[in-house]
Amino acid sequence: MRTIRIAVAGTGYVGLVTAAVLAHVGHDVVGVDVDEERVRTLNSGGCPIFEPGLPELLEESRENLSFTLDYREACADADVVFIAVPTPERVDGSANLKYVFASVEQVAEAMGPSCVVVVKSTVPIGTGDRVQRHFESLLAGTGREVEVVANPEFLSQGTAVQDMLHASRVIIGVESERAREIMARVYADLPSPLLFMERRSAEMVKYASNNFLALKIAYINEIANLCDLLGADIDDVARGMGADPRIGDKFLRAGIGYGGSCFPKDTKALHWLSSFHDREIKTVKAAIEVNAVQKISLIKRAHRYHSDFEGLTVAVLGLAFKPGTDDLREAPSLDNVAILLDAGADVRVWDPYAMDNFKRFYPDEVTYCASIPEALADADMCLILTEWPDVLSLDPAVFVEQMRHPLVLDGRNCYALDEMARHALVYESIGRRTVGTAR
Ligand code: UGA
Repeated sequence: MRTIRIAVAGTGYVGLVTAAVLAHVGHDVVGVDVDEERVRTLNSGGCPIFEPGLPELLEESRENLSFTLDYREACADADVVFIAVPTPERVDGSANLKYVFASVEQVAEAMGPSCVVVVKSTVPIGTGDRVQRHFESLLAGTGREVEVVANPEFLSQGTAVQDMLHASRVIIGVESERAREIMARVYADLPSPLLFMERRSAEMVKYASNNFLALKIAYINEIANLCDLLGADIDDVARGMGADPRIGDKFLRAGIGYGGSCFPKDTKALHWLSSFHDREIKTVKAAIEVNAVQKISLIKRAHRYHSDFEGLTVAVLGLAFKPGTDDLREAPSLDNVAILLDAGADVRVWDPYAMDNFKRFYPDEVTYCASIPEALADADMCLILTEWPDVLSLDPAVFVEQMRHPLVLDGRNCYALDEMARHALVYESIGRRTVGTAR
């Protein structure tokens, strides 16, 4: 079978992982991006984003994977062009498609006689049809043709490479047999089942899936808040619920809410889309509201111990929106640190990877600490916002040894209550009983 020549427009974490994995299975891949520094880094063997396993995959595929700023170089001979550019949130919550259409115009100019264009970016239902029509008008009279495919991604940051290498399914929305055949060849050497459907349905699968997971998290967080009030334990409740295969045990971890570049954006986009069509999805609207309150729920708890935070030293463990990434988009740390600083607290932060990104928001206002004990030194209170392995494996005695007043407010339920009860500290988590009493 002839190797497929693939161009990937956009080398963010989705585009880059897609390019690296498709090169890994033997296709000839060229990544194209408008960001000069990114392309330079990639061509000199570097990896511009933090994503486990990606540097190794890029290195291994150097022979059949290259990067360019030039759409013509990437697309002129391509059989398939993936579009993996960002679709940021607009002020009203809808998805902004300007990068998708800018990319479409460049592909139309640069491509050869015919190619399949695969939209990987998360786009509103019906975008594939719009892209198809736009290509048709751009290519009218040139004799060149494009078939547009919807192929949404389901990569989680931190496990994106494995998620693509071993996807539970690949969703492919096609409108022709030819597009179906070429997409089957693109994915032939990956083990995942291919689910073919119409383009609009494929686009809907992406939104419906992300929104469902966001709902699941919002729901378990609301149940956790009720557990707090009624004396039940959310870990046991989630374990009991998750044992039912109809519910499943994934995405039932209660905490301080979801962040990242996907769930917040995709819930707002679906809410916008459904409202626009006068069919508001009320469950999604509720999840958005629940999550906004949940993100700052530790602050409310902190007020049980301190009526105001002026002059308090507060340690913040974890800044990234989840472990395994340096990404701060919609991270609870941004909301919590803003409130603490505004209230006059002295904030000491620790994160193994996200501190450099955090410095863009707070270059001098917080103290950056190289270790957890350093962040905890003389603190009056500690907020745990990300369940990094270093936090999970921390000996709780360190809180007692380092902090002036060992009050630990854990937004990620990192520790067993029995273990925490053995130490002279006050420990509050989400949906579980409080351990210790304030001195
Ligand atoms: C998410 C989806 O999981 C991917 O399938 C999807 O492809 C991706 O969005 C996307 O649309 O690009 P991601 O945002 O990287 O991936 O991260 P997740 O691991 O899903 O976590 C999202 C947020 O939910 C995090 O803040 C995490 O802490 C939170 N979460 C997750 C919980 O609070 N509880 C859970 O049980 C699970």
